Amino acid sequence: MKALVYHGPRDVSVDEVPDPRIETPRDAIVKIITTNICGSDLHMYEGRTDMEPGRILGHENFGEVIETGDAVERIQVGDIVSVPFNVACGTCKNCNAGLTNYCIRANDYPRLAGGAYGFADMGPWEGGQAEFLRVPWADFNCCKMPEDGREKQNDYVMCADIFPTGYHATEMAGLRPGESVVIMGAGPVGLMAALSAVVKNASKIMVVDRHPDRLALAEQIGAIPIDDSKVSPVERVLELTGGEGADRGCECVGYQAHDPQGHEHPDDTLNKLVESVRFTGGIGVVGVFIPEDPGGPDDLAKQGRVPLEYGLHWFKGQTIGSGQCPVKRYDRYLRNLIHTGKAEPSYILSHELPLREAPDAYAHFDKREPGWTKVTLKPGLG
Ligand SMILES: NC(=O)c1ccc[n+]([C@@H]2O[C@H](COP(=O)([O-])OP(=O)(O)OC[C@H]3O[C@@H](n4cnc5c(N)ncnc54)[C@H](O)[C@@H]3O)[C@@H](O)[C@H]2O)c1
Ligand SMILES: [Zn+2]
Ligand SMILES: [Zn+2]
Repeated sequence: MKALVYHGPRDVSVDEVPDPRIETPRDAIVKIITTNICGSDLHMYEGRTDMEPGRILGHENFGEVIETGDAVERIQVGDIVSVPFNVACGTCKNCNAGLTNYCIRANDYPRLAGGAYGFADMGPWEGGQAEFLRVPWADFNCCKMPEDGREKQNDYVMCADIFPTGYHATEMAGLRPGESVVIMGAGPVGLMAALSAVVKNASKIMVVDRHPDRLALAEQIGAIPIDDSKVSPVERVLELTGGEGADRGCECVGYQAHDPQGHEHPDDTLNKLVESVRFTGGIGVVGVFIPEDPGGPDDLAKQGRVPLEYGLHWFKGQTIGSGQCPVKRYDRYLRNLIHTGKAEPSYILSHELPLREAPDAYAHFDKREPGWTKVTLKPGLG
């Protein structure tokens, strides 16, 4: 089959590789209908993780089940499914507790917990930017779509990662109806956090970034855009909340946070949230931070250390929740919102491309070129 293979920093190509096959009776093979490129792929693409060359990328996968192992009962050939980016067994102690983001059987536990397709440090699972994908523990992992699965594929594919991830940011922040929220980053994840805040009936949604096209998308769904290349986002949020600060804050940028000139400061968004969220408010961090970052801007960053304004955070009695999203906690409910027309996450999609154009798409998306907000790849188009 054809698949997008990582060869090294900014070096990916569509190669001919062996088809995946059923390896355990619990596996299924999914023929990919559509698969997204994610901001997380860019950390790997830029060589800022220890992703091994030769691996297939892609963890936001959606497709048709074409083969199942003998022990698969619930999922059937012909089902259209979204595949959560987390690979989870469904039965270990963390999965039992709903923490499928830290499954202890999908990775090299206790050194590492939590699995994902085509991801650095998240187990051996190959990615789905390919014609076919092997899904382990298929009954547990696959989220079955209703009859409009193909028709709304560009919405449903967002259930594999970014819609649940944006929602999870608001959950960890503790966002309730009527509250205000500030979201750092108007990338796909920040825009999904904004959509989740709309779904939850937040009273005021403020989104910080410096890309006008991305801020315009936030504005399109009723958020207040804040351009941090023009104003201080902390001052603006305080102004918009009568000096109190936002009730809740979402970090949707991660360790490669930078100033509008491009200099990286991994602490930038976290500290701005500590400063702009009110006393006793909550902060949800879904942007990725990593334990070691050899390519980081200074010694602290290289050691994965982030100079957090812990004193101010403690003094304000805020809470912070962090980590990968447990997609299984949310995907069926967000799917239902899409099915009933109450949420349309495809509003952020800028490009639908054949798989063969993936290398080019990575190059454009990596530069955050205007208009390149979110790319989905369709192997069926070639
Ligand atoms: N926790 C999870 O489960 C999970 C899942 C998916 C993605 N992620 C992570 O979420 C993060 C965002 O993903 P994405 O796809 O939206 O990525 P992206 O890179 O497309 O978007 C990030 C946005 O942040 C903006 N930004 C950069 N520095 C900023 C700053 N200092 N202040 C404000 N905005 C700033 C950029 O301009 C960009 O628009 C990444 O770290 C990704 O790895 C986490
Ligand atoms: Zn992703
Ligand atoms: Zn598990």
